[in-house]
Amino acid sequence: MLAQPIKLAFAQTNPTFGEVESNVEEALALIRSVDADIVTLPELFNTGYAFLSREEVKSFAEGVPDGATCRTLVEESERQKKTLVAGLAEKAGDNVYNTAVLVSKGRFVGLYRKIHLFNREKILFNKGDLKPRVYDIGGVKIGMLICFDWLFPEIWRVLALNGADIVAHPSNLILPYYCQRAMLARSFENHIYTVTANRVGEEKRGNYCLKYTGRSQIVSPKMDVLASASDERVECKAAQINLELARNKKVSELNDVFKDRRPNFYRLLTKPFF
Ligand code: ACM
Repeated sequence: MLAQPIKLAFAQTNPTFGEVESNVEEALALIRSVDADIVTLPELFNTGYAFLSREEVKSFAEGVPDGATCRTLVEESERQKKTLVAGLAEKAGDNVYNTAVLVSKGRFVGLYRKIHLFNREKILFNKGDLKPRVYDIGGVKIGMLICFDWLFPEIWRVLALNGADIVAHPSNLILPYYCQRAMLARSFENHIYTVTANRVGEEKRGNYCLKYTGRSQIVSPKMDVLASASDERVECKAAQINLELARNKKVSELNDVFKDRRPNFYRLLTKPFF
């Protein structure tokens, strides 16, 4: 068990498309500035988001854990004695995934491949093909989801039922704050901490101009926003958490968000809808 109190942080960045080395350097400098145990970085933090083609994704995608970005994160996590979660394009054989990696104090721990792809990501990336896992970092249970996964409460519930205390949520959000608002519900309905690490800035590429919404945040199991960022600045903020709060699933003397579920009435949820 990590010695309490535990501090979570997000790093809200503004990467320049394709400038991997400087994007990584800037992100690492930012997290050096924060006093926290577990820091979450945005989706595709090293490359930027607005890929024009699958070929372009392939040209930037890296192996996990052997690629340069993942190795740099592992080394930095050792230097800073931190646990880090960060999004990057992963190359695995002929496939490319929108992936989040978890590294801790000099060790690669695990990965998550984005399951719910947003808009043109469906053309650019392969769909995540692995069951999301909950990783134990010194007694703290961490799951990962990426950006648009916010719209699918089922997958958050699965992580919570598998024991997640915290879900780290690297993001590149574009829609107007729907996610930031919805995360209060994701946190409360599962009694978990959530850390959404979004980016800021604009990307103009080809016919696309994407503006990212910032407002990264840390939300408690009681829906409190413990830390939040602006919608335009690069910044890193931390908040102290209490694991007991995430492990107590009671909402009243006689109600418990897990024990009161009635899965027999939810069977439709497990049926594919094509
Ligand atoms: C998103 O999933 N990057 C909107």
